[in-house]
Amino acid sequence: RSTLKSVAEKKGEFYFGSTYDTYDADASFNQNVFSTFFNHVVAENGCKWDATEPSRGTSDLTECLAVQSYATTNGATFRGHNTFWHSQTPTWLPGSITASDLVTNVIPQHVQQEIQGMGASVTSWDVVNEIVGDGVSNGMTALQCVQNKKDWPTQTADGSNTALVTDLSFVHAAFTTALQYAGPNTRLAINDYNTGGSDAKTACVLAVLADINANAAIPYNRLAVGFQSHISPTTFVSKAALTATFAKLAALGATAMITELDIALPSGTTAYERLQAAIWGDYLDACLYSSSCVEFINWDTRDDLSWLGTSEAGTLFDSNGNPKVAAFEVQARLQRFLSGA
Ligand code: G3I
Repeated sequence: RSTLKSVAEKKGEFYFGSTYDTYDADASFNQNVFSTFFNHVVAENGCKWDATEPSRGTSDLTECLAVQSYATTNGATFRGHNTFWHSQTPTWLPGSITASDLVTNVIPQHVQQEIQGMGASVTSWDVVNEIVGDGVSNGMTALQCVQNKKDWPTQTADGSNTALVTDLSFVHAAFTTALQYAGPNTRLAINDYNTGGSDAKTACVLAVLADINANAAIPYNRLAVGFQSHISPTTFVSKAALTATFAKLAALGATAMITELDIALPSGTTAYERLQAAIWGDYLDACLYSSSCVEFINWDTRDDLSWLGTSEAGTLFDSNGNPKVAAFEVQARLQRFLSGA
């Protein structure tokens, strides 16, 4: 924990964390890692729409607040994930709700009640999660990037009702509401997966960021891009490519975050763990040495508790709660950053 404090002092700020939900198994393991190894917490599921607005207009932040207080109890900070996502929506969506009702009333209402209810100390919010399609190509406009996505809360089962994305007003509504109710230092993020390099999806995310800045009048110094980074030894982005992307955000005055890092292995053999450690270290270095990157969150902390499943061995600690090679590599990279090497 003292290492992370020194890194934060050297970088100005640095949040290094993982996911937690109050129903996670092994309280002693979690209490140990969240009071020593990490200084930051995000709710894996507790702050999502299905958990926080059980019926239209009814706010229930019980689980989200419980995770935030768990962070506080362990001397850690807390980030919010998320106020808008097509998945894990409450059962009353989409129902007969029209796109215009969603944009004008439902989304602003949800964003306000959650962000206002969670308070000003939240370091950042994933205001919108995974709104860029997987089939995008270079040169697409921000609207085309989002229209390429096919899963929306108002979408009918056959995918025909894409009325939500005739324009980006639903994104603008979410961000203008978030800016109004978030704390003055809270960063407002667009969060997505399979991004970080010179790929078309990253170009799209940056195009949507520019649209949010221009058309929702959100200053770049309040905006962030979350790179989820659910990767493997065959899908990771190189340190150089990540660094180049982080530099683009720095040039805008915006913030970069690694928000959901796990590195799924084809097998838990030691050879793969060394490769996993090298990739983990390079992602961390890309963030440590980039002025724009201030949050680095790992997704799930122990292999047996991971959404990936135990066999993919994608987290920093093995199923017995022992640190893996990657956990030691992370420590080494933090120390090397402090030593000025
Ligand atoms: O809470 C219910 C419980 O009441 C029920 O008994 C149980 C069995 O059906 O399900 C529980 O809900 C599960 C929930 O996790 C809480 O454990 C859902 O079924 C399950 O689908 C859900 O999975 C989460 C997944 O998002 C949902 O899409 C994973 O834990 C979570 O790690 C994963 O996280 C997402 C990020 O939010 C966004 N980026 C991708 C990432 C991985 O999919």
